Amino acid sequence: MSKEKVFPKDFLWGGAIAANQAEGAWNVDGKGASQADMTRGGIISGETDQQIDPNLYYASHEAIDFYHQYKEDVQMFSEMGFSLFRTSIAWSRIFPKGDEKEPNEKGLQFYDDLFDELLGKGIQPMITISHYEMPIHLVDEYGGWSNRQLIEFFSRFCEVIFKRYKDKVKYWLTFNEINNMHKIPLATGGVRIKNEEEPLQEIYQASHHMFVANSHAVRLCKEIIPDSMIGAMLSLSVLYPNSCRPEDVFETNTYRRRHLFYSDVMIRGEYPTYVDRIFKEHTISINMEEGDLELLKAHTCEYLAFSYYLSSTHKAGMPILTHTGGVRGIDNPYLPKSKWGWQIDPIGLRIVCNELTDRYNVPLFIVENGYGDVDSINEDGSIHDIDRTNFLKEHLVEIYNAIEDGCDVRGFAWWGPIDIVSAGTGEMKKRYGFIHVDKDNEGNGSLKRTKKDSFYEFQKIIESNGASLFSK
Ligand code: BG6
Repeated sequence: MSKEKVFPKDFLWGGAIAANQAEGAWNVDGKGASQADMTRGGIISGETDQQIDPNLYYASHEAIDFYHQYKEDVQMFSEMGFSLFRTSIAWSRIFPKGDEKEPNEKGLQFYDDLFDELLGKGIQPMITISHYEMPIHLVDEYGGWSNRQLIEFFSRFCEVIFKRYKDKVKYWLTFNEINNMHKIPLATGGVRIKNEEEPLQEIYQASHHMFVANSHAVRLCKEIIPDSMIGAMLSLSVLYPNSCRPEDVFETNTYRRRHLFYSDVMIRGEYPTYVDRIFKEHTISINMEEGDLELLKAHTCEYLAFSYYLSSTHKAGMPILTHTGGVRGIDNPYLPKSKWGWQIDPIGLRIVCNELTDRYNVPLFIVENGYGDVDSINEDGSIHDIDRTNFLKEHLVEIYNAIEDGCDVRGFAWWGPIDIVSAGTGEMKKRYGFIHVDKDNEGNGSLKRTKKDSFYEFQKIIESNGASLFSK
């Protein structure tokens, strides 16, 4: 008799959002402005202003008003059967400017209430400490992570939230998609690149500061919450060579290393040898302080969380572009695409899980995977989002396969279980949710929540711990 296909007993099922894409209430209860609050039209296609112009529309200012409506939303997550919910703590809610000595109590209270609500429904919070939302004051006055002083500010932020939530939050992540420092350094690290021609010196220097801050965060987290897990978070779409031409294969591998460089340092605890050549060729010299390298070695991340949306292909000599979904090269003729041109590749997810297991052999969490689509509401209020359900199921089957391959995948969080503002484009039209939110790209709408068909599909999957994926 063949054994029943089912996910591991303690597998965590859920969804993920980021504070700036959902909460709104951008200046409520003492919150300061973040880099995201100054951005119109998203971090890829939009603009970040120096001053907020009250006549212009900033999507994060209200977002889906999760700040005030989270109880209703958490109730729906619970109905779906979630055991995991990843969100971020908006840094500027706790330290409005970022460099204060004392935190903002009202901001801390909000997350206390949110975590209580989640825990009361059996949902584990997983917290990203910094998700594309640095206080704008740290960007403007200090230059973001290019300034070593940020380590002190970030460590203070970490210490405050670890102490406050030590009994409530056991899963932590330091920086969202830290490897996006190369392509979106302003959102990822608060860095406005000064020399666009030769940005690598600034990127690697800022990354070094983030590595040191990451190790301080790991140290503090384990001291304050010994029974917690703290991980690294990367964007890891797959990039295939466009052909079997060795040049294509080698250069693709070189780009892959540029991404895995971040987890190499944060998990293995040291700068990999391949980086020496990059530093030499681009005359990069990293300013380090005594003890930095020892710190990186002593306090490493225990697990690797990643986002996975798509795959692409690369031909030697072609520039590499990126969007929030990952690397964007030449389209793969074997794969379909979403309306935003993101190629759908479930097997790619199995490939990444295996690659990461071979390289690091640490627990993995898929903390972002999702399908942005245009949804239409029928007259009776129903929303038939079959493509989203198919995407979900096909990717989950490959996660199951990866686990069978021997990968220690501990959990899955769908990106945007409720419609939120798109990070890349600032749109509401690009919907990921199992729950629809009545709001359009210009900010009109009642914010009413409506369950889509995929809501019930995910509910069935979770209820059966994945078994329903394989039943006829
Ligand atoms: C990831 C980010 O890059 O992709 C999220 O961590 C983002 O913040 C997600 O929302 C999907 O991208 P987009 O541009 O469709 O919102």
